[in-house]
Amino acid sequence: MSEQTQYTAIITETQGRVATITLNRPEALNALSNTLIAELVEAATAFDADPNIGAIVITGSERAFAAGADIKAMLELEYSDILAGGLTSTWNGFEQMLTPTIAAVSGFALGGGCELAMMCDIIIAADSAKFGQPEINLGVIPGFGGTQRLPRAIGKYKAADMILTGRMMGAEEAERSGLVSRVVPAAELREAAQQVAEVIASKSRPSVQAALSTLQAAEETSLAEGLRLERTAFAALFATEDQTEGMRAFAEKREANFKHR
Ligand code: HXC
Repeated sequence: MSEQTQYTAIITETQGRVATITLNRPEALNALSNTLIAELVEAATAFDADPNIGAIVITGSERAFAAGADIKAMLELEYSDILAGGLTSTWNGFEQMLTPTIAAVSGFALGGGCELAMMCDIIIAADSAKFGQPEINLGVIPGFGGTQRLPRAIGKYKAADMILTGRMMGAEEAERSGLVSRVVPAAELREAAQQVAEVIASKSRPSVQAALSTLQAAEETSLAEGLRLERTAFAALFATEDQTEGMRAFAEKREANFKHR
C-alpha cells in the first residue's frame, strides 16, 4: 500500500490497481468543507485519468462516512454566494468519471455525505451505517443531488419520507430499499470494499467504462435511447483486443489476460 500526503482533508493510497480516498476531518465527522471537496475531486479525477487505476474506494472513519456539508461554513453564506455556484458546482468533474467508485460507508452518511455516497457507483455499508437527508432540519433542502438521486434509488414515497422528515435510515433498511449494494459487519468494511474494487479493477478497462457510461445513461434517457446507446457501445467493444482475448480465453478454458485496450 503506498500513501500520498499532499492533502490536508483526505488521505490517498493505492494498492495494485485500486485507489482509496479516505475522508479525514475527524474533528467534524468528515463534514464536507470546500477544501475537502476540492481535494476529493482533484484526487479522484487524477486517479480516473490514470490507466493503472481500475477502481476507486471512497471511505471515511468508523464513526462517520461524512455528516454532510460543513454547516458552520454555510452559516456565513448568502443567497448570492450559493447562486454564484461556489458550493454546488464543485462536483462536476467527479460526476463525469468513468472509473468505478465504491463508497464504503460506516457510521453517519448524512446530507452531502449521503449524496456523495449516491454519486458513487456501488455503496457498501457497514451494519453501523446511518443514511439520511436531514437538511430540512436546517431550513434548507439537499443541494448535492439528493432530491434527484434518492427517489431514483429508493422510489418517490420513501425518498419523500426521508427528505421531508429528515429521519435516518439504518443499513438494513437501506439495503432493503435499494440504497446500498451490500451490507457487511463493520469490522470487515474496508476489506470487503477492497475485494469488490479488486474484482472490478481486474476486468477489461474499456468494457468497464462502457458498462458505466451505459449505466449512467440509464438514469437519464428513455428506454429506446438507452438501448440504442447500449447497442453502439456493445459493438464498439468488438474493436478492442480485450474482447478477442476474453472470448478466446473462454474457448481455451483459461483465465483472460486483459491488456485494457
Ligand atoms: C460541521 C459538523 C457537522 C457538519 C458534525 N459536525 N456534523 N460540523 N458540519 N455537517 C461537528 C459537530 O459540530 C461537532 O463539533 C463534531 O462534529 C461532532 O459532532 P456531534 O454533533 O458532537 O456528534 P454527535 O452528538 O454524535 O452527533 C452526530 C450527528 C450530528 C447526528 C451526525 O453531528 C449532526 O446532526 N450533524 C449534522 C448533520 C446534518 O445536518 N447534515 C446535513 C448538513 S447540510 P464540535 O466542535 O462541537 O465538537 C448538507 C447540505 C448539502 O449536507 C448540500 C450543500 C449544497
